[in-house]
Amino acid sequence: MHIDAAHPFGDGDGVDAADEDLCEADPLEGLDASTRDALTSATALLDASMSWTLTAADAARFAASDAGDRASTLGFTTAGGARAMLEHAAARLAPKKPKRFLDLGSGAGHTVLYFAVLDPSLECVGHELSAERVASSRDALRRLDAERPDLDLANRVAFVQGDMTLADTSGFDIVWASTLALGDGLRLRLAEKLVAELDAGVVLYSSIALVAGSSETPLVVANSWSHAHEVEVAVMDADTAVAPHLREAAHRRRSEDF
Ligand SMILES: C[S@@+](CC[C@H](N)C(=O)[O-])C[C@H]1O[C@@H](n2cnc3c(N)ncnc32)[C@H](O)[C@@H]1O
Repeated sequence: MHIDAAHPFGDGDGVDAADEDLCEADPLEGLDASTRDALTSATALLDASMSWTLTAADAARFAASDAGDRASTLGFTTAGGARAMLEHAAARLAPKKPKRFLDLGSGAGHTVLYFAVLDPSLECVGHELSAERVASSRDALRRLDAERPDLDLANRVAFVQGDMTLADTSGFDIVWASTLALGDGLRLRLAEKLVAELDAGVVLYSSIALVAGSSETPLVVANSWSHAHEVEVAVMDADTAVAPHLREAAHRRRSEDF
């Protein structure tokens, strides 16, 4: 049995009506032909394996978690959006080279695969609650690995099924959390986890600010519902704390429940 997943950000064709008139620069300009080809293949394979619907088993997983009413929403980062995020992170981490990337709520696997193609020395892990989305991510990975063995994707990319608040965050230097559709309680628990676990210097991206004290100018990261989507950026340090608005929102929600 399939249940329609809510996707309030559009019908999944990747383009907002407002965006259709925009004449944008090529987001992959300057990349070598081999990388462009691999990104194009990744997009085609991700499109082919991705499902916008939620199985009954996955619906039960979301119901059992307190992720929030819209947490099962599936949108995804574009190849150009992933490139913007990775290049931004590399500049923040320099002269150290990025080694490991973690996507919390990795959906159908887009950002994980794009990062792995864009930096052939990067280890990339996606953590996702929906078993079906993890399966489709692994399917796209297997097919891309067969097409492009030179990228050594099978040894560098992994998709883990489970709640993001239980993810192993150790050893990652870039973390991306797609927090837009998560409930207030989950956002707060995720922020507390990341503040407690991430080392100083880790570059953290999130759709809604999770931390305060180390925030930078938001970054435009194009995704399936907007070419102009801005994500919050923070470089973790000793002063990084949970963003106060998360505690207030979770507190407000608890009061309303009484
Ligand atoms: C916007 S989508 C994924 C976007 C993806 N990170 C990308 O950049 O392409 C957010 C994902 O978070 C997942 N999610 C929601 N709550 C979760 C939880 N508690 N643990 C793990 N994943 C969760 C949803 O199933 C959904 O696939």
